[in-house]
Amino acid sequence: MRKVMIAGNWKMNKTFSEGVELALALNEELKDGTGDVEVVVCPPAVDLKGVAEVIEQNDAPFGLGAQNVYWEEKGAFTGETAPDMLTAIGAGYCIIGHSERRGYFGETDEDINKKAKALMAHGIVPISCCGEPLEIREAGTHVEFVVNQIKADTADLVIDDPAKYVIAYEPIWAIGTGKTATADDAQEVCGAIRETLVEIFGAETAAEIRVLYGGSANEKNIADLVAKPDVDGALVGGASLKAPQFAEMVKNAQ
Ligand code: PGA
Repeated sequence: MRKVMIAGNWKMNKTFSEGVELALALNEELKDGTGDVEVVVCPPAVDLKGVAEVIEQNDAPFGLGAQNVYWEEKGAFTGETAPDMLTAIGAGYCIIGHSERRGYFGETDEDINKKAKALMAHGIVPISCCGEPLEIREAGTHVEFVVNQIKADTADLVIDDPAKYVIAYEPIWAIGTGKTATADDAQEVCGAIRETLVEIFGAETAAEIRVLYGGSANEKNIADLVAKPDVDGALVGGASLKAPQFAEMVKNAQ
């Protein structure tokens, strides 16, 4: 049985002290537990240690994720972060392949594939993003587009524990625009992703991999989204930046 995941992507928001404040507020909101929902927050890199301490000191009911990683172990890669640096400060998850990283920083499917392998070798759960731009959606080739991304992003990937590999389908036209894909739109693509995972990894493994939806997901639309058979939660940007709203979303996902 797949556990619903609600993961907050803070993007480039919150200074160190603001991040600590948000994590403390979220802990307060969620102190009665998160039911059967796995909750993760992904702050900017410089905030990770502060949020890790909030989680540890309060036994907070959410996990910690990074927003990016590099696949090499160490060395002359100025500005990058290695997987074991994330492990060392308590980050158990990492977003990879977000459309903003693909679009603004030229990240390719090949990079994303290497990042997934490096993370999994260190026991960090990748939250691997895919999704089509508006022109592909309008051309009606979005399913094929996303399926090809999935195939490239998972090339030669060995998944021992399918609960520890997560995909997030985020149609680019729905990110930060207030235009959520309908729950049926999300299901169409998440269902196609599941079928692709069956082809690649077999039915048993594919049945355990979480496929999240992302793109203007919030406390109002989350229940409809997770009611769909192949939508296993959400990767949340804007609605993860306010503790009461994010906590309400967690509640409504239960
Ligand atoms: P949004 O962002 O919820 O603000 O649309 C989602 C994401 O980009 O992960």
